Amino acid sequence: MNQQGNPPMPSRQRYGSAKGRWAGIGPYYAMFPTAFADAVVEEYTQPGDAVLDPFAGRGTAIFSAAVQDRSGTGIEINPLGYVYANAKLKVGEYTAVVRRLEDLAKEAGRYRESANALPEFFHSCYSTRVREFLLAVRENLDWRRKHADRTLVAIILVSLHGKIGQSLSNQMRQSTAMSPDYCVAWWRKNRMSPPDVDPVEFLGKRITWRYVHGRPQTGNANVFLADSTQKLLSLAREVREGKRAKARLLLTSPPYHNVTNYYYDQWLRLWLLGGPERPTARTSNRYGGKFSNSHHHLQLIDQILSKSKPILTEDAVIYVRTDRRELTYRNTLEALVRNFPEKSLTEISHPLHPDRQLKPYSRGGAPKQANCEVDLILQPR
Ligand SMILES: C[S@@+](CC[C@H](N)C(=O)[O-])C[C@H]1O[C@@H](n2cnc3c(N)ncnc32)[C@H](O)[C@@H]1O
Repeated sequence: MNQQGNPPMPSRQRYGSAKGRWAGIGPYYAMFPTAFADAVVEEYTQPGDAVLDPFAGRGTAIFSAAVQDRSGTGIEINPLGYVYANAKLKVGEYTAVVRRLEDLAKEAGRYRESANALPEFFHSCYSTRVREFLLAVRENLDWRRKHADRTLVAIILVSLHGKIGQSLSNQMRQSTAMSPDYCVAWWRKNRMSPPDVDPVEFLGKRITWRYVHGRPQTGNANVFLADSTQKLLSLAREVREGKRAKARLLLTSPPYHNVTNYYYDQWLRLWLLGGPERPTARTSNRYGGKFSNSHHHLQLIDQILSKSKPILTEDAVIYVRTDRRELTYRNTLEALVRNFPEKSLTEISHPLHPDRQLKPYSRGGAPKQANCEVDLILQPR
């Protein structure tokens, strides 16, 4: 298998199927390249096997399992990852998604006053009609329960910010949202104003593009919105009661030590899902930070691997792709060896894949390791 540092596929090949069009939802920090997840699932499991990912992110591993006739269970604590994951695992019907877009267009006018009352950032980022539309999205789409609503909000989230003309926003990065004050000052300095996008026309085209090859066949797969330290206990109970099959592959990528804060960096997308109007580094859950305490970082990975064990077959393969930087690497390796001493370890270092969206290390980092990842693979001896 050659999964190390593969260049991204040419777009004709990448987007030539329903699977290819939906797999890309959406941009997420440290996401697996889809070709990598596909190759690992294919090599280490058979059709009908189950795959587990307790740090599911945008659900790449579980989607790969689902489109290759495996079953998949993921757990993700961040609502953005959860929405992206289930939007592609349970794609809403095209007509239902288009109908919901039209409903929002009708609702948007009711949000004129609240659109005016939004903080300055939103006025500099979005035109009036986009602000009204986004407030209608925020209030009306039931992304926790309804497939069509979740699919639609995921498509909107992908284009919520990015290059002018290719997104709904004033010029921004697509991957992460910067602080509102920084953005406003930058737009002012560069004399940039929000584009006058018609959100319904713009999103209608994006919906049509996604559905060109229809919906992917995804079978039995799900990503739960939950804390793995809790959710794994109830999954283990289901295994004991014979209601759930054990997984043959644990394919995951744990959070990196002190690199990103999934809440702060995604504050604008989380706002659309009902979060606060400003970025907050602190959230109500203890896994909302940057994992900057090395001890807590190790504890989290250790706990989750230990709680995954009852859900894995004896001969399961544990495949972890992570950052080669010292503390993330050391903590992940320690937790793996502690929990699976009976398995043999293979370690493959390789250059950073361009799809991963990893930030280079900032000041004080170890430059030699900054663009390097490692696969830690534990197999039965
Ligand atoms: C490196 S990312 C995984 C990316 C994923 N492989 C993908 O393809 O998108 C790690 C993820 O673990 C999640 N996470 C951190 N603590 C968690 C917890 N206690 N339970 C569930 N998910 C958690 C983070 O929110 C983040 O999305």
